[in-house]
Amino acid sequence: MCGIVGYLGNRNAAPVLFEGLKKLEYRGYDSAGIAVMERGAFSVVRRAGRVSELGGAVSLGGKCGIGHTRWATHGAPVERNAHPHCYKRFAVVHNGIIENEHLLREECRARGEAFSSDTDSEVIAHLLEQDYEGDLLGALRKTASRLVGSYAVAVLCLDEPDVIALARRASPLVVGVGEGELFAASDVPAIAAAGVRVYALEEGEFALLRREGASFYAADGSPVRKEPVAYDLEDDVPEKKGYRHFMEKEMAEIPLVLSRSASVGELAALAPSLCGVERVQIVACGTAYHSGLCAKRAFEALARVPTEVTVASEYRYGDPIVPPHTLAIAVSQSGETADTLAAAELARGRGALLLAVTNVRYSSLTALADFSLFTQAGREIAVAATKSFNAQLMLLYRLAEALAEAKGKKIHAGALDFIPRLAEEAARAGGKVRGWVPHFLGARAAFFLGRGADYCAALEGSLKLKEISYLPSEGYAAGELKHGTLALVDRTTPVVAVLTDRALAEKTFNAVHETYARGAKVFLVTTLPEYAERDEVVSSVLLPECDPLFSPVLSVLPLQALAYYVSIARGNDPDKPRNLAKSVTVE
Ligand code: G6P
Repeated sequence: MCGIVGYLGNRNAAPVLFEGLKKLEYRGYDSAGIAVMERGAFSVVRRAGRVSELGGAVSLGGKCGIGHTRWATHGAPVERNAHPHCYKRFAVVHNGIIENEHLLREECRARGEAFSSDTDSEVIAHLLEQDYEGDLLGALRKTASRLVGSYAVAVLCLDEPDVIALARRASPLVVGVGEGELFAASDVPAIAAAGVRVYALEEGEFALLRREGASFYAADGSPVRKEPVAYDLEDDVPEKKGYRHFMEKEMAEIPLVLSRSASVGELAALAPSLCGVERVQIVACGTAYHSGLCAKRAFEALARVPTEVTVASEYRYGDPIVPPHTLAIAVSQSGETADTLAAAELARGRGALLLAVTNVRYSSLTALADFSLFTQAGREIAVAATKSFNAQLMLLYRLAEALAEAKGKKIHAGALDFIPRLAEEAARAGGKVRGWVPHFLGARAAFFLGRGADYCAALEGSLKLKEISYLPSEGYAAGELKHGTLALVDRTTPVVAVLTDRALAEKTFNAVHETYARGAKVFLVTTLPEYAERDEVVSSVLLPECDPLFSPVLSVLPLQALAYYVSIARGNDPDKPRNLAKSVTVE
């Protein structure tokens, strides 16, 4: 992933770049760096760790510079692998993956060139040095033509002071034009400010930022005229507002976020297109994939439309069959996940109608889709998705109802309207999970069990726990446990069972028994009071009753809270878990 920024103007570049990088930290935070050009030389500061470690760079002089916050792909997250990478006349920051890096590096080595990092990105600076013949754009175009993979790059060249050259392929890049100053960034919030017009680079395009202004070029080098993109200034990084972490604040916002889903106007616009839909294919990654699994049940139960859910990285390389009248739904909080974009493009290319379900109105996914529905969760900062998941569920459930209506099926409309109020109750009841934390601290692993929709909630609860507490954890279909995983259960194992469907509850409880018999500590998240007090159970969260089909939107609340409390009890930063990033723009 990584985030890149560039600045050319009358202010000192370093503090502007530093502020921009802080807003891009959601893209990666294992190391960071800034290079500025001044009096024919580069001044570079690079640090392992968070952007805040770059505090010392802020005193650098120079009005033109580039910066980077890294999520390591090639090379360990240490200072010498941090960007910018400098080689002779060039300084480069890069977001993406250069897949033929190995061959190019060998070529450079054969010419006697030495490398100072293990990154794929450093090779770009070497190629630029080889390709430069007094024309920065020409050199960047030539170098780009030799790269296989994805990149958004910003380049400084000592022979061309006060110029930033940019290139983009399969990684996002925007340019900002303000009063006497120019910006570049991986994402709009890093450069959004009153009076700044923002232009998006398209696939394969280049740009030059010079004191006279920004110029854009197509892959063949011909000039391109661009219109500024619309963006919302409120998309700026929000505050914690008294909460200890963004994750805590974002969980607290869930009832309000859910209430917004009642007013999704775009659903009405989509309705006429739903009548002809004969099957649904959902593609997504991570938490959004779990939303898809929950939605499948609702699409099939309410509309009786066959629905497949595939992890986007598998779909894109799986030669998928897309029959006529397929609605493809790409679910993505960010709208920028590389695998989801590629899967969505493939589905559309094979004839599907493409619907984007996303939290970001002006994203690559919305640009690609035939229709878009917005989850209206507000900006989500914590890497572990919480409120965006609940918002995706509500929207997808409403879509399932709309699809059912379009198909002439009878539904008990109105059940979803109660969810926001029930979510308030569920959040209150869920506070009890704080008491469960000691049982998780001494554990080697945890398990989450459920059947039907409860299984989907279990998967998400388990993902939350592992990503922010680093405790190994598995979400399991209750009936599948005995086919292998039960071997892992012992007296140290906490097992969380989700139980919201009376028709399946006794069957799920069989699996609970099987773990209890092996000494597991059993915890319950349930809407069924008759199970809450069972002897086998250490502690239960009793949720308000709701339609089991929609229950994950409530039952996940205590599971999110559990992950949060275990994370902080283990001394972790739940907002920025190790090795992860909020927006995954590489494969
Ligand atoms: C990353 C995030 C996850 C998220 C996934 C998909 O892995 O850490 O929280 O679920 O990407 O992101 P998307 O923006 O496509 O929903």
